[in-house]
Amino acid sequence: MKVGFVGWRGMVGSVLMERMVAENDFEGLEPVFFTTSNVGGAAPQVADDLPALKDAYAIDELKQMDAIISCQGGDYTKAVFSDLRNGGWQGYWIDAASSLRMADDAIIVLDPVNLNVIKDGLTRGVKNYIGGNCTVSLMLMGLGGLFANDLVEWGTSMTYQAASGAGARNMRELIEQMGTIRDAVAPELADPASAILEIDRKVAENMRSGNFPTENFGAPLAGSVLPFIDSQLESGQSREEWKAQAETNKILGNTGNPIPLDGTCVRIGAMRCHAQALTLKLKKDVPVADIEQMLAEHNEWAKVVPSDKESTLRDLTPTAVTGTLTVPVGRLRKLSMGGEYLNAFTVGDQLLWGAAEPLRRMLKVLRE
Ligand code: HSE
Repeated sequence: MKVGFVGWRGMVGSVLMERMVAENDFEGLEPVFFTTSNVGGAAPQVADDLPALKDAYAIDELKQMDAIISCQGGDYTKAVFSDLRNGGWQGYWIDAASSLRMADDAIIVLDPVNLNVIKDGLTRGVKNYIGGNCTVSLMLMGLGGLFANDLVEWGTSMTYQAASGAGARNMRELIEQMGTIRDAVAPELADPASAILEIDRKVAENMRSGNFPTENFGAPLAGSVLPFIDSQLESGQSREEWKAQAETNKILGNTGNPIPLDGTCVRIGAMRCHAQALTLKLKKDVPVADIEQMLAEHNEWAKVVPSDKESTLRDLTPTAVTGTLTVPVGRLRKLSMGGEYLNAFTVGDQLLWGAAEPLRRMLKVLRE
């Protein structure tokens, strides 16, 4: 199988390469690496005797591929995809950009949750397989057991989204912001006798000043939260909030009778793990122990965390989860509104299950 890789050097692409090497995915594959900036350069050392980098805009070269995986972003997809298809290319297109996601001839891939939808698509001849929005994919990895058992009447999520979702530069800026705050009060911090309100005043002044680094986020994130992600829609939702219902139901193959899902998406100062607090209205009053069992059995990565403080602070934080494929789900308890109202909190690595892993696994599904 000849597989073209585009955008493999960026943040999501690098995670994809790391995962593919770790899982030996290049074995038996004929990888061809494309570039938008370094045509003729050396391919990464993931296999022997790889051809030099090819031009990612050369439609004739791309057309030689049985499948193309792009982590290059939506603008690249827009620039080449129609030309490729209009030129008669019948290969599989796999990407992580949102531009094709909701198209009728595209499937959103998250195989631990929707392998049946993917397989049905393959049987029907669907050729476009697109990774979902990170928040949606991570929610479904953690809470898949409830959806698989058709228990969710509606849900609302309050998200705590990491800097990585906004991009590599934003991750750097978050650390710059943290450092800028610390530097502004370093002498006072070193003096245990200094007044905390004076430190606080200086911190606020520093964060509000024109010198604070906000070029990428557009506002201070460190020491604050940003309750608007992506563009503004006429409904009053942010585009990120709109995706919850649209993409979840598409992933589940549920578009005829969608489960209502909505909430508030918020950027916080974590590096690469998204977290979300959910309120779910269940179709019936199911005991928490049964719910825990459904969640734990749904897929091998979902891990139920007991709702006590010690377990929660140890296992249910971005710090605990970062760089791992585990998707812990905890704080499971019935809310005071009644037995059909479930509280849940889940955390997942935005670059793994939220971006690269579903694409890597889609390639495996194609090879099976
Ligand atoms: N839109 C997401 C975010 C990342 O900004 O966190 C991509 O799925």
